Amino acid sequence: MPLPEQQIFPCADDVAGAAADFILEQANKSIAARGRFHLVLAGGRTPEAAYRHLAEAHTDWDAWYVAFGDERCLPPDDPERNSRMAAEVWLDQVPIPAANRFAIPAELGPEKGAKAYAKTIETLLPFDLVLLGMGEDGHTASLFPGHGFEPEQLVVGVHDAPKPPPERISLDYRTLAEGHCTLVLVTGEGKRAAIQQWREDQPLPIARVATIASNVLLMADKAAIGES
Ligand code: 6PG
Repeated sequence: MPLPEQQIFPCADDVAGAAADFILEQANKSIAARGRFHLVLAGGRTPEAAYRHLAEAHTDWDAWYVAFGDERCLPPDDPERNSRMAAEVWLDQVPIPAANRFAIPAELGPEKGAKAYAKTIETLLPFDLVLLGMGEDGHTASLFPGHGFEPEQLVVGVHDAPKPPPERISLDYRTLAEGHCTLVLVTGEGKRAAIQQWREDQPLPIARVATIASNVLLMADKAAIGES
C-alpha cells in the first residue's frame, strides 16, 4: 500500500504547528458531534513541539480524554517516560480533568501493566484521533519489525524492544487503528530510509497500522520525505 494522504512541510517546526492545529480541529469536531474527544498520544520526541503548541490552546478541555499509544516500563517520574514528557510540556499546563488523563501503568511491568491498561482502553474505544510516530526502523508505538503478537490483544507487553528500554507496553496493531482519524508525524532525515521502505510496501509496523486504520494523514517535513 502506498503512503497515506500526506502534508509535507519545509521543517519540523512547521509540522508541529500544523499538527497542533489539526488536533484542535479534530477535537472541536468530535466535541460538537459526540460531546467528547478521545485522543491517543504518540511517544518519543517528534510530537513534543506539537504538544507545546497545544499547551497554549483554548478549547473545551473538560471534554478531552487523553490516553497513550505506548509507554516505557520505567518509574512514573522517569524523564524518559512518554507520559512525563506530555505532562511537562502540555498536560500539566491545561485544565484537562485528572480523571480524563490515562497514563499507562508501565511501572507495573509489561504483562501486569498491559492487562490493567486494556481495561482502561475498553472504556475509550473507538478513539476520535490516534497520534503515531515512526522510528528509523519503521516501528510505531512499541510495535517493532518482526515482533508480532498472536493472538491479537488490545494492549501488549513488550519484552525485547530494540529501542531502549527493552520492556514496554503498547496498544496492539488493531487497537492503534481504532480511531476515526489517524495522524502520523515523521520528521528528520533519519526517518528517510523507513519512509522509502514504506513507499516500497515493505512490512513495517507503521504500514500495517496505516493499512487498517481510517482517515490516515501523514504529516512530514522535507527531510524525512526525501525532498531537498
Ligand atoms: C517511544 C515511542 C516511539 C516513537 C518512535 C519515534 O516510546 O519510543 O512511542 O514509537 O514514536 O520511536 O521516536 P522519535 O519521535 O523520538 O523519533
